[in-house]
Amino acid sequence: MIRFLIDNDIVEINEARADLTLLQFIREHRKKTGTKEGCAAGDCGACTVVLAEPVSVNGTYQLHYRTVNSCITLMSAIHGKQLIFVEHLSDGKHLHPVQQALVEHHGSQCGFCTPGFIMSMFALYHSNSKPKRDDVLHALSGNLCRCTGYRPIIDATLAVCEQAPNDKFSALQEKTLATLLSLGATPPTGTGNIHTPSTREELKALIKAYPEAQLVAGSTDLSLQFTQQLKNVNSLISLTHIDALKQCTINEHSVTFGAAIPLSDMAPALLNAFPQVAELITRFASLPIRNQATIGGNVANASPIGDMPPLLLALNAILHIDNGDDVNTMPISAFFTGYRETRLAKGEWISAIEIPLKQPSQALAAYKISKRFEDDISAVCAVFNVTIENGKVEAISSGFGGVAATPTTCDALERALKGKQFSSTECLHLGKQILFDAFTPIDDVRATAEYRKKVLANLWHRFWLENQSVSKIETRVVQHA
Ligand SMILES: Cc1cc2nc3c(=O)[nH]c(=O)nc-3n(C[C@H](O)[C@H](O)[C@H](O)COP(=O)(O)OP(=O)(O)OC[C@H]3O[C@@H](n4cnc5c(N)ncnc54)[C@H](O)[C@@H]3O)c2cc1C
Ligand code: FES
Ligand code: FES
Repeated sequence: MIRFLIDNDIVEINEARADLTLLQFIREHRKKTGTKEGCAAGDCGACTVVLAEPVSVNGTYQLHYRTVNSCITLMSAIHGKQLIFVEHLSDGKHLHPVQQALVEHHGSQCGFCTPGFIMSMFALYHSNSKPKRDDVLHALSGNLCRCTGYRPIIDATLAVCEQAPNDKFSALQEKTLATLLSLGATPPTGTGNIHTPSTREELKALIKAYPEAQLVAGSTDLSLQFTQQLKNVNSLISLTHIDALKQCTINEHSVTFGAAIPLSDMAPALLNAFPQVAELITRFASLPIRNQATIGGNVANASPIGDMPPLLLALNAILHIDNGDDVNTMPISAFFTGYRETRLAKGEWISAIEIPLKQPSQALAAYKISKRFEDDISAVCAVFNVTIENGKVEAISSGFGGVAATPTTCDALERALKGKQFSSTECLHLGKQILFDAFTPIDDVRATAEYRKKVLANLWHRFWLENQSVSKIETRVVQHA
């Protein structure tokens, strides 16, 4: 059984199709059609809804309001949460402050995108953050508007978020928090063909009992099989409710992320250790996708254009592979075996991803090249992690996406440049040539093969220019908090 709140009513679901999306539930089961379907692929934001959930901050629970794309969210994701969609915002007499602000700033024309924008604005309004323009852009990064233009929507968001939240949700905050904590205290028991283990042992038993069932975490990748390719899925095992898979542990040697941590939750610890990769994280899809998408799903789907594998390759990450009896470790460089193929055997799952902190990371940079700044898949992703000692290249770890059938490294780069003066033009030109020749990428809708090769060489040029000052430092010890 899955239990959650809709507005202030507790809803229980005992039986649901494994592939029932939250959007189908809202529109077809609840008959609320304010939430729109545009792309059914997580790309347009017309279907954006908010999930409120209790989050412990310094030992005290607070409600966090997060946007998700309901078209690719599965019902198993909403246990213990409050589901808020656009029909709930008004108190019946007045528009909600975010709706009023959009009216006053003329932020809607045809109106198709408007419910989605309203929900993203609502979540930001409740983050109590007095956002700057950039924060607003991030909050709206999953919403497309094709006729109004973004300026009035951004202005409306900036204006309304100046005020502290004052609506029926803030008035009922304590009560909602108490109800959600009590709903979440009992793990879900699954609904028909969606199995929802809450421990490692249950996961192992379910995989054994339902060998045909697919694992699902954030569902931002898997759902496209139902919504775009119209494939049937009979049985799913959700990793969302296994607390052990959502932990982040840090010691002096490494930071370890449970595989089912959404990108939004892992970002603070990752960026604390490696602030240089901030742009890669903020440009990973959109905020609603990052609120769902997990690091484990990004590695396990083995997409050659995923953004985390190149980073994890360059940071020499270690995967923890569990089968319910033993946990084995494997360098991520050994994990990908072919196009969307990995070393994961039947009955195994990725339980955690460990990143060594003592990186030889005098110079680290992650570059994502895509057609749009927000919410776009990489045409090319390149991560360079170069140790420079006394001006000379000591070691190079690298990771690339979009240039081969799997995420990949380029060992030839280290072999050719080790011992060379980093600031030398030889290091620049040799690096560019090696990267141009290293891969045989394909032409596709995102880029031609030729473009990919050139861009890769040029990214080395950019890296070389950006790190000239690092190469002049005699020896640099990198401290991680
Ligand atoms: C609009 C949109 C934009 C996107 N933009 C980006 C982007 O910019 N960069 C990028 O890299 N990706 C992007 N993606 C792809 C996707 O969001 C990511 O790959 C995401 O990290 C997948 O994680 P998930 O938890 O949603 O995986 P799911 O969809 O739940 O699962 C994906 C696959 O991994 C398997 N799996 C999941 N977790 C585990 C585990 N712990 N152990 C073993 N197998 C597991 C599942 O069985 C499934 O086969 C985008 C997707 C969408 C819809
Ligand atoms: S319908 Fe486009 S993101 Fe969901
Ligand atoms: S108002 Fe028409 S798409 Fe935004």
